[in-house]
Amino acid sequence: MSEKNTAVIVMAAGFGTRFKSKRSKLLHELSGKPLIRYIADTLAELSPAQVVFVLSHQKEEIKSVIGENDIFSFAEQKVLDGTGGAVRAAMPALKNDIKRVVIIPGDTPVIPLSLIADMCNASGKAMLVAAELDDPAGYGRVIINRDGSVKAIVEETDLDDDRRLVPLVNTSIYAFERKILEDGLKKIQKNSQKGEYYLTDIVAICNKEGIRFDCVRHDEPAEVLGPNNRLQLSDLARLVWHSRAEILMEEYGVTIIDPYTVYIDEKAEIASDVEIYPNVFIEGGSRIEEDVKILENCRIVNSRIAKGSVIGPNVFIADSDIGTNNKIGPFTYVRPKTVTSDGVKIGAYVETKNIQVGKGTKIPHLSYVGDASVGEKTNIGCGVITCNYDGVKKHKTTIGSNVFVGSDSQLIAPVTINDGAYVAAGSAVTHDVEKDDLAIARARQVNKSGMAARLRKKLCAE
Ligand code: UD1
Ligand code: MG
Repeated sequence: MSEKNTAVIVMAAGFGTRFKSKRSKLLHELSGKPLIRYIADTLAELSPAQVVFVLSHQKEEIKSVIGENDIFSFAEQKVLDGTGGAVRAAMPALKNDIKRVVIIPGDTPVIPLSLIADMCNASGKAMLVAAELDDPAGYGRVIINRDGSVKAIVEETDLDDDRRLVPLVNTSIYAFERKILEDGLKKIQKNSQKGEYYLTDIVAICNKEGIRFDCVRHDEPAEVLGPNNRLQLSDLARLVWHSRAEILMEEYGVTIIDPYTVYIDEKAEIASDVEIYPNVFIEGGSRIEEDVKILENCRIVNSRIAKGSVIGPNVFIADSDIGTNNKIGPFTYVRPKTVTSDGVKIGAYVETKNIQVGKGTKIPHLSYVGDASVGEKTNIGCGVITCNYDGVKKHKTTIGSNVFVGSDSQLIAPVTINDGAYVAAGSAVTHDVEKDDLAIARARQVNKSGMAARLRKKLCAE
């Protein structure tokens, strides 16, 4: 037997009641990826002859998260009548030449590919994967025969006090010769207590028929037991994030100050000699190039940070492209389509959006710069605002190279400040400024001699 004539059935119709959510458990995210997508990705990589996902609740949404693949097909479990019912619903979808069936639960995201491959390639006629737990509560207990084979699985609700202490639990990962599974499924009866067909009953059925049921012990329980509630989901997430940080440190030469407080999505690429401080999220397909330093409390989403830049602390960057040797932060809000060249500084309390910034330009403090292009070596003073919105439409501000925009100026778009121009502090600029010109757009100052003292005297008298 091998993957070539093996089908994998993924039981994914249950709702996940213990999540107490309006969304199916399978759509909840673990480290930026929906639970069901983990298994789908693993199976796409393993590529057995066929994969059948059994769906019911929110099936269209789950289907679209699973995505398309030639080997994937879908079956619907019309009535949620238990794990036995789920596998029954999948059987008609199996192709004729399938000889072996591996069953896995859709809510167990990090089952190792090698374990599923072993189950596909094993010779056992019927087998399951079991794990030992310090606290087995909530799982089906695996009862072993003298010869080491499985005698039965007893669900939590049917346990007597002796068996409650059995630490070996069922992971709901099984493999069967097709014929044995087909025959067994026919014999499973409705559980009188819960009104469901328990797939686990197939073990006792096999025993009765004299078919040996093998037990494969897996000694990393977290890899083979899915989260039943949100607390377990967060435990698992911590494990996933930590192991990713570990890989980055050990295999990619990334410095991570505290690997328990960085959250890096699977798709993100981090180059060697990047340094990451605590409480940093790097999400989506972000790419962090060599020698970048990301200080504490930053979130970087779908963005590239080029070589040698320093980001943070407390910086949010989304859908942007930050050039080499930039200094972004602290407290900077970099919104989508911010594109910077080499050596740019965007400092404290600056918000940017849809801008292109030339080499060596500085926007150091308290500004909003949106829908703009800024040339090279320009200085945007403190508190400058590009007024890009007229209440109906957005307009563009164009600022050339070697421009100096004085503090607290408003550039009322559409407007162009050409190369080498100066804008005096406190200006409200409504007209284009020509190359090398100085624009002053504010009321002229008047000083009234001794007027302050006279005014104070009058006010005090009152
Ligand atoms: C099941 C096993 C239990 C095992 C545990 C491991 C049974 C009766 N019990 O219990 O021995 O220790 O898994 O996690 O099988 N599903 C369907 N349709 C249904 C019901 C469930 O597709 O009608 C799917 C769920 O989406 C889930 C998987 O089957 O992915 C397991 O279902 P769940 O309800 O979590 O079973 P447990 O009670 O945890
Ligand atoms: Mg479960």
